[in-house]
Amino acid sequence: MQVIIFDNAQQVAISAAEWVAELINKKSNPVLGLATGSTPISLYQELVNKHKAGELSFSNTTTFNLDEYLGIDEINAQSYRHFMNENLFDHVDIDKSKTFLPTCNQGENPRAQGLAYEDKIAQAGGVDLQILGIGANGHIGFNEPTSSLASRTRIKTLTQQTLDDNSRLFAADEFQPTLAMTMGIATILDARYVLLMATGKNKAKAVKDMVTGALSAVCPASSLQLHENAIVLLDKEAASELADQEYYIWANQQNLKINQEFGLYHNY
Ligand code: PGA
Repeated sequence: MQVIIFDNAQQVAISAAEWVAELINKKSNPVLGLATGSTPISLYQELVNKHKAGELSFSNTTTFNLDEYLGIDEINAQSYRHFMNENLFDHVDIDKSKTFLPTCNQGENPRAQGLAYEDKIAQAGGVDLQILGIGANGHIGFNEPTSSLASRTRIKTLTQQTLDDNSRLFAADEFQPTLAMTMGIATILDARYVLLMATGKNKAKAVKDMVTGALSAVCPASSLQLHENAIVLLDKEAASELADQEYYIWANQQNLKINQEFGLYHNY
């Protein structure tokens, strides 16, 4: 796991955008895994800025989002499709027919929908770079604590903590879904690179459990310890409970030198 600590959340977003831009500029048909939530909004702003500055085209990019609520349709402002349109897709040159979320509409079978999503990812050649946030409870996507480390895209019941954390985004009288479709942990681990962004003090405990805790389904993000290419971008607050912060800073300085000498090697 490569842990990189930045002074603030803006620098986390700038760095994440550089990773995405490198993939998109390097590969002819890049496949990007996307996340929703408050954390990646600033990443999407950076990507929109790069596109508007003529530095980045999404015309050949295919995207797969981590998750989508059940029980609301895509025109609902709370849907993750709506979130992605508003924060990224409507502002760049992406072909929306190549943007996918794991949906399950009324009358559809969530088990079949989960399998179909897995097939779609495989047909696209697999995810090159998966963007992730982390829940205060250690979830990635909507893989809540005790999710199988071998899980695939499926229907999932949200925990009370996730419902409480996300209730800030819903009006008092608004329907808040308690079920979602989510990529599984094994689906996420299949991505060639995973890039997890975490900012703010309320993520510090989950970050500590992910990086230095035991590999355990109780902290689904700890599964990234098994990934060959997991990069964790943190601001100082999210990193604040990590022991050995000096080591991560030192190791990153060495990596920059190694990259300067031998070039970046990202095997997309
Ligand atoms: P947040 O959500 O970015 O809104 O904190 C992250 C997550 O729950 O994965």
